[in-house]
Amino acid sequence: MITRTEALELLARQGLSAALLQHSLASEAVLSALARHFGEDEEAWGLTGLLHDVDYPSTADHPDRHGLDGADLLAGKLPETCLAAIRAHNGEMTGCVPASRLDFALRCGETVTGLIAAAARMRPTGLEGMEPKSIKKKMKDKAFAASVNRDNIRQCAEAGLELDAFLALAIAAMTTQAAEGADA
Ligand SMILES: [Fe+2]
Repeated sequence: MITRTEALELLARQGLSAALLQHSLASEAVLSALARHFGEDEEAWGLTGLLHDVDYPSTADHPDRHGLDGADLLAGKLPETCLAAIRAHNGEMTGCVPASRLDFALRCGETVTGLIAAAARMRPTGLEGMEPKSIKKKMKDKAFAASVNRDNIRQCAEAGLELDAFLALAIAAMTTQAAEGADA
């Protein structure tokens, strides 16, 4: 399996923007926390979160390839279950239907980072002290971060976690990641 250092080097080579790299790091944190919660492979799930958008810059003009090219690029570097999740995170375009716990975890986990990060930008204290119920309110406000797919977030249920618990876990993971990023 690819190491985290190699994964970060690969993302840099692929030319991810700073914003996309931050999204990737937040997704890594949420996926690692989900793996911990479910007793799954934390390293593999974290790397799946970190690398799921590796082909984003190179598929900008071919959105139906987003996820497929990434999985091709990562063949041999991640277990097949992780590659399947990367294909299925863009299942609407790739035709790869999510089925496994990791497939659903990546879909809800990477999507929720967008909503939480947008909500944090609206708060003077950022992520600090954010409550799951305020994110639930944002989910109902369709105009807020309108591009964030609420149905993907609700797929936490298919992964095996109800919404409140999932949001609490994601906020906590992103708060720790942001603090560690600020220290680095
Ligand atoms: Fe993503």
